[in-house]
Amino acid sequence: MTEKDFIPKAYTNTLENGNFTWSSPSNIALVKYWGKKKHQIPENPSVSFTLDYCKTTTTLSFSKKSDSDSFSFEIFLDGKKQDDFKPKIETFFKRIETYLPFLKDYHFKIETSNSFPHSSGIASSASGMSALALCLMSLEKQLLVDVSEEHFNQKTSFLARLGSGSACRSIEGDLVAWGTHKEIEGSSDYYGVKYPQKVHELFRNYQDTILLVDKGEKQVSSTVGHNLMHNHPFAERRFEQAHENMSKLISIFETGDLDAFIKIVESEALTLHAMMMTSMPYFILMKPNTLEIINKIWAYRAKTNSKICFTLDAGANVHVLYPENEKNTVLEFIKDELVAYCQNGHFIADQIGFGAQLMS
Ligand code: DP6
Repeated sequence: MTEKDFIPKAYTNTLENGNFTWSSPSNIALVKYWGKKKHQIPENPSVSFTLDYCKTTTTLSFSKKSDSDSFSFEIFLDGKKQDDFKPKIETFFKRIETYLPFLKDYHFKIETSNSFPHSSGIASSASGMSALALCLMSLEKQLLVDVSEEHFNQKTSFLARLGSGSACRSIEGDLVAWGTHKEIEGSSDYYGVKYPQKVHELFRNYQDTILLVDKGEKQVSSTVGHNLMHNHPFAERRFEQAHENMSKLISIFETGDLDAFIKIVESEALTLHAMMMTSMPYFILMKPNTLEIINKIWAYRAKTNSKICFTLDAGANVHVLYPENEKNTVLEFIKDELVAYCQNGHFIADQIGFGAQLMS
């Protein structure tokens, strides 16, 4: 597939107005996407667990307008008008207009809400952009009529990527790979694919408890961080390493070797933050409590032989990952020893989910 394959044929149907509602999950990367080329093309492949509880629900209402001169939309978060989201959506619409030529024909009302608190420090761009891309694709499907499920999912992921890279991994769960990798058939830089190889049953219902260490706004956005990978002294080696780690994960997913899984996942998280600390300008997104939690997890693992591990996204919060068969004991440990390091004691008990859902 190339970019041109996502430009639609002439629309055969017309539609005056209507609405679609989708709910789309967040995801947590195991091998991280950090560094991108023009047009949201990742510098390296990544793979993520789709989440279940953390999601965005978006209703897109549309009505045909008399002209097609410019984009026309309004956006609401939890029922409140959110004009500060408009520039991001405008940029998204500009990037995808070639692929959705109907965009200027309609006025859109975008009503969105998140299952997680807005100020949780959990990025809503993956779930938010994928939910919007899904609604727009539902509209295109009506205009084209004959759209296969495969094309629908691929193109939605393709569009979501243009909104926010990691959003392309939020369409179809449970494990999603994005970025060309020689051992993953069908993998592409343009869209995420449901991980096609064998996955051991130990990874079924994997748990992710998100410890909310810092709920504040990040000082450095992901977009700025990605850009700092240009001319980064360790960039090339890092991108190669991501390919190697993907290869290692392929056999780990198959065999269920959780000790090897832990090594890759934790190393990826720390490498991501090491890239931030060694870029110019450098920055640190971890907080003292992030490190306290990591040390507690290591001590607990050494003491109990648990298969618990952590990963981080571009922030201070810690994602605690563990197999379902340890759910009760690890939750006990989290409540006894880790919650004290969370802001106001807040955490979210999530687990692997299976992708976006059409609500109406
Ligand atoms: C650290 O997808 O938020 O979470 O493409 O600029 O919107 P943009 O960046 P974004 O970057 C996510 C980075 C990450 C790692 C990952 O999810 O793979």
